[in-house]
Amino acid sequence: MSTQRAESKKYAYFEEHSSAEVVNARMGNDTNQRLREVMTSLVNHLHQAIKEVEPTHEEWRQGIQFLTDVGHMCTDWRQEFILLSDILGVSMLVDSINNRRPTGATENTILGPFYVPDAPRYSNGTNICLDGKGEPLVVSGRVVNTSGEPIPGATIDVWQSNDDGFYDVQQKGVQPDWNLRGVFTTDEDGKYWYRSAKPHSYPIPDDGPVGKLLGALGRHPNRAAHVHYIVTAPGYSPIVTHIFTPDCPYLDEDAVFGVKDSLIANFQKVDDERSADSLEFSCPFWSLNWDFVLASQR
Ligand code: BEZ
Ligand code: FE
Repeated sequence: MSTQRAESKKYAYFEEHSSAEVVNARMGNDTNQRLREVMTSLVNHLHQAIKEVEPTHEEWRQGIQFLTDVGHMCTDWRQEFILLSDILGVSMLVDSINNRRPTGATENTILGPFYVPDAPRYSNGTNICLDGKGEPLVVSGRVVNTSGEPIPGATIDVWQSNDDGFYDVQQKGVQPDWNLRGVFTTDEDGKYWYRSAKPHSYPIPDDGPVGKLLGALGRHPNRAAHVHYIVTAPGYSPIVTHIFTPDCPYLDEDAVFGVKDSLIANFQKVDDERSADSLEFSCPFWSLNWDFVLASQR
């Protein structure tokens, strides 16, 4: 290189051995600190992965095509990138990092794409199963703090799929609006209860590129049977979680890694006509007692 060119050169040329440093060095001095941290790490790891894998041009093109297909699958109702993050365990990792709680507090898990805000508010005991499908289930329990003291006025937002494995929003016009959703409030003793149907396992949406990837990896798309909850109370960290049935074959192979041991509940089968009658259920039915434990907001 001529002395003149060497003197006017601000940045190093690209070379295989120093590729990530060359790219990262281009960031301006006034780049936002957090963005600098995130991009430096991303570029370092991305270049490291490429150096490990050494893709051919054709393989790289296929990778780009996959991400393009993921983008094309996205609509107001379908977020294929989040689904990708879910099946790679990244959604659960981000959730775990952001929800480290004291021992005893109910653990968090993934929100999922089927939460709808502003569900109907119901009084305790209401049956949220509006399509009448599935095995009847009564859920009761308390919301308490980590010292075991009841929290009156806590809000329990619940949603689940129906007996065919679909959420109401996936079957508009087929299921009644707000089927298997509702918001309950704990009474002065911190107690809540409602009626519903026992949840079933169901596949995550697998008709897009993420479903194809799962197939290519020899993985199935099924989620372990669960009910979703968001539990909130003033002064406490909100909980976004699920409760899982103990008899589901997918507990240890949930497609999005959402299962935690502490969230597997004891669903009891009740074969008692009088209890069934008092709940306006057919017999037998299922009963679940579950307490949510909230940690104080830091
Ligand atoms: C769900 O549990 O509703 C869900 C979570 C992740 C991906 C798809 C569905
Ligand atoms: Fe779900």
